[in-house]
Amino acid sequence: MASKAFHLGYFLNGSAVQSFGMPFSGSIAKTWSSGQFYVDTARALERGKFDFVLFEDAYHVPNAWEGRHDVHVENAIAIPRIDTIVLATFVAAATRNLGLVATLPTFAYHPYLMARLIGSLDAVSNGRGAWNVVTGAQPPAFQNFGMEMDHAVDRYAHATEYVELVKQIWNSWDSDSVVGKDGVFADPAKVHNVEFQGDFIQHSGTALISGPSPQGRPVIAQAGASKEGKVLGATHADVVIATASSIEGMKDYRNFVREEILRQGRNPDDTKVLFLIAPIVGATEEEAQLRARLRDEQARERAIQTLADAADRMNVDLAKLPLDEVLSDDVIDSMYTAGQRSSLETFKKQLRGRTMRELGGQMGAAKSEWVGTPDQVAGRMQEIADEVGGDGFMITATKGGHTNRFVAEIVDGLVPALQARGLVREEYEHSTLRDNLQAF
Ligand SMILES: Cc1cc2nc3c(=O)[nH]c(=O)nc-3n(C[C@H](O)[C@H](O)[C@H](O)COP(=O)(O)O)c2cc1C
Repeated sequence: MASKAFHLGYFLNGSAVQSFGMPFSGSIAKTWSSGQFYVDTARALERGKFDFVLFEDAYHVPNAWEGRHDVHVENAIAIPRIDTIVLATFVAAATRNLGLVATLPTFAYHPYLMARLIGSLDAVSNGRGAWNVVTGAQPPAFQNFGMEMDHAVDRYAHATEYVELVKQIWNSWDSDSVVGKDGVFADPAKVHNVEFQGDFIQHSGTALISGPSPQGRPVIAQAGASKEGKVLGATHADVVIATASSIEGMKDYRNFVREEILRQGRNPDDTKVLFLIAPIVGATEEEAQLRARLRDEQARERAIQTLADAADRMNVDLAKLPLDEVLSDDVIDSMYTAGQRSSLETFKKQLRGRTMRELGGQMGAAKSEWVGTPDQVAGRMQEIADEVGGDGFMITATKGGHTNRFVAEIVDGLVPALQARGLVREEYEHSTLRDNLQAF
């Protein structure tokens, strides 16, 4: 039986100084903020007929490691960042078909402003706008917005209402409300005020000032790992991004999301589940293996940077723990966060039997199943898609590895190998992101 075609997204680790200090990163310390670096990436992805690029984001300079920002500032780890809605808009003007996913957190924007920003991105990109829904979980980010540290406690209950309201605001203009002739711009009876009464959010307001946008409702992406996060994705997202390190994990994730969608009485095929992978391709298998070994060496050298990044994500000061001792189960069990619990649980599992420095070094390392020639990696993706199902993959570089060279290896190496197997599109079917996502 022929394999089913699948979708490709690209996960860009932030809008920051990509790959600073890594080989082939060009003059990134100077060029990172011009926007042109991201235009180059986006145009290449469009050449590869990717469905979309997702710009990850954050709202603070991390300081979880030793309570200081030093490791992050010295090494440009995920900082500084350009605002992703500005970046996506800039990139929109230089592209025609690529979907543009901006990341905006539910704690930092009023829902009306969120609806307007993403709706406006959808408008100026002619229907390619999308929102990556994140709740944020880091106290320093909440602090930047004058919020309480424990804001994270009910983050998904709050986010569920928030997304419902944003959708309602987008729906304040019916899809056939604009007439555009005979002296009538839009039918007043088809433009609605918005009323919303939730446990966390109450809202009473007018229709959306930016009007209807080409997709009506821009595309929503989400990448939850906890049960609550996955339920939010199943409830509201068009694209769910799953991180899983095994076939079983991928199956579990996909089944959970699809069953939840069915339980809510909707069609699971309307929501695309994409698996995050970080391939390393070479012209020959030996070259790919050599590159993976070099990558692993770099990852070991950057163990502290990687740990500092994890400390920030999990909101745990890992620097308080000894770097070169295997920690006892008691010490590991006592680690707690009010932030991303699922990230901490994975970290704790991986820490058993290893020192922190060893784990930090391994976290940025290559995953052997994604190392090979373009055809070998394409074959592996095909096997997984056949066995697990799923609607495609989010490609990303191993940590700190996003360069123009990496993008070319994917777009001009891996993508043609996937196309030769009939697994990905050779031309865009439609002009809007949602239609392309729903094309197969
Ligand atoms: C591919 C991917 C992209 C993500 N992008 C962001 C992001 O840009 N900003 C952010 O604050 N969190 C981001 N996250 C974190 C998720 O939104 C989520 O919080 C995380 O996967 C942990 O899941 P949980 O919140 O259900 O515990 C991302 C996660 C993944 C896997």
